[in-house]
Amino acid sequence: MAINERFEELVRKTDINSPAPENEPARQAWFLARARLLTQRRMEEAGRPLTFRVETFGCQMNARDSEKIVGILESAGFTEAPSEDTDFLVYNTCTVRDNADQRVFGRLGRASHLKKKNPGMKIVVCGCMVQEKSNVEKIRRSYRFVDLVFGTHNLYRFAEYLCTCLESDGMVVEIWDRADRIVEALPVARKYPFKSGTNITFGCNNFCSYCIVPYVRGRERSRTPLEILRECERLVSDGVVEIMLLGQNVNSYGKDLDTPCTFAELLTEVCKIEGLKRIRFMTPHPKDLSDDVIRVVRDNEKIARHIHLPLQSGSDRILKRMNRHYTKEQYIALAQKIRGQIPDVAITTDIIVGFPGEQDCDIDDTIDVIRRVGFDNAFTFIYSKRAGTPAAKMPDQVPDEDKNRMFDRVLAAVQETAHGRAEKLTGRTMEALAEEVNVKDSSYITARLSNNMLVHVPGDPSMIGKMLQVRLDECRGFYFFGSVV
Ligand code: 5AD
Ligand code: SF4
Repeated sequence: MAINERFEELVRKTDINSPAPENEPARQAWFLARARLLTQRRMEEAGRPLTFRVETFGCQMNARDSEKIVGILESAGFTEAPSEDTDFLVYNTCTVRDNADQRVFGRLGRASHLKKKNPGMKIVVCGCMVQEKSNVEKIRRSYRFVDLVFGTHNLYRFAEYLCTCLESDGMVVEIWDRADRIVEALPVARKYPFKSGTNITFGCNNFCSYCIVPYVRGRERSRTPLEILRECERLVSDGVVEIMLLGQNVNSYGKDLDTPCTFAELLTEVCKIEGLKRIRFMTPHPKDLSDDVIRVVRDNEKIARHIHLPLQSGSDRILKRMNRHYTKEQYIALAQKIRGQIPDVAITTDIIVGFPGEQDCDIDDTIDVIRRVGFDNAFTFIYSKRAGTPAAKMPDQVPDEDKNRMFDRVLAAVQETAHGRAEKLTGRTMEALAEEVNVKDSSYITARLSNNMLVHVPGDPSMIGKMLQVRLDECRGFYFFGSVV
């Protein structure tokens, strides 16, 4: 039985004339049943369907959370709208860098105009940004048209908040400092029918000195292997062929469980699921990526030939101040070990430039790592000061001008190695999962190689969700044009 069906049965059985149950997920089933009535009533009053739109910022975790929000909204009777001009607008936010916050405030400003045209419209802000008190204060003060604000720890209560929001007019704010439990079995509306993410851990215990995540997502909590495996099996029986296991640091998976289980053991079990064709994971931390994990990846063809291994900096001095617990040479040795054991693996990374105290000599070290590892791709970020993190209090913040110069240097080095790595694959035939119709030319399909690179091939929508054998005919820097063989 699919997750949604199990929950649906709870909703059907619930009696909304008796008080809401205290236990989960029965409580959310009660509120969902109630939300259906409220939505129905509103639709009758309006004489038209009610629509929603969920705008997602940030990482894979947020994308997965949005699928849960969409699951509840669709289940309550709303239909997805093509734009933000809608009845129920949700911003699922990110706060990892300041520009993400600013973008949301900009979008909220525009949404207020839409609400003037459609006064019944509800506007919701949720996710990491509102786990920070200052942002909630700002919304209360200057964005009073917002109807609901809720955080990352109580997302499972969204059906309940939806009811409150539909029944009242003031701003509802529900932020928790920590999670009280992991609630399974709520409805999820997957964005892609053939691939899905699955959370294996929530939160992070690492406290890298620049990073806000441990403060907004809380301490690390693992789901049990049984829950994860059951969810993966259900996904596969529902047509999913690719699953990405998600956690802020997947290497520490299972350490907090009553019966400990390592990430390598979990991966091995997931590989055994019949019908599952490709497995990805995000994100391992270089300080504790075990030989066991490398071996499991090497020995299981189902696991994608791609390891995203955030470097952040190549300078020992900066790495220490970042609280990363590895040195430049340790990182390089690890990357070489991975390359040595797993032929054709792509190694990608995240790099921060302009961390407090960083100088051009530190960037020289970062560039040295980029060249020696030969990254297949990298996301380069300009350091953003996050209030409450240790790095924000460091006195030697780097001027914008210097940050921009450092950024350009790093970007050029990354482009050089990435192009070189991609170029070498030209002419090869590889397996690729057809994901969507090409956005620029609808006679092409965009497919993803095991190493996470994209290849565009002539084709039609019937190919979507299928594994194709594709020849990489022409390299265009970070992606390919190819043909199905
Ligand atoms: N400034 C810039 N980049 C950051 N990241 C995390 N925190 C910050 C920050 N304060 C980057 C890291 C991380 C990625 C998800 O975001 O590179 O790996
Ligand atoms: Fe942030 Fe470091 Fe945790 Fe990643 S490992 S989420 S960068 S604190």
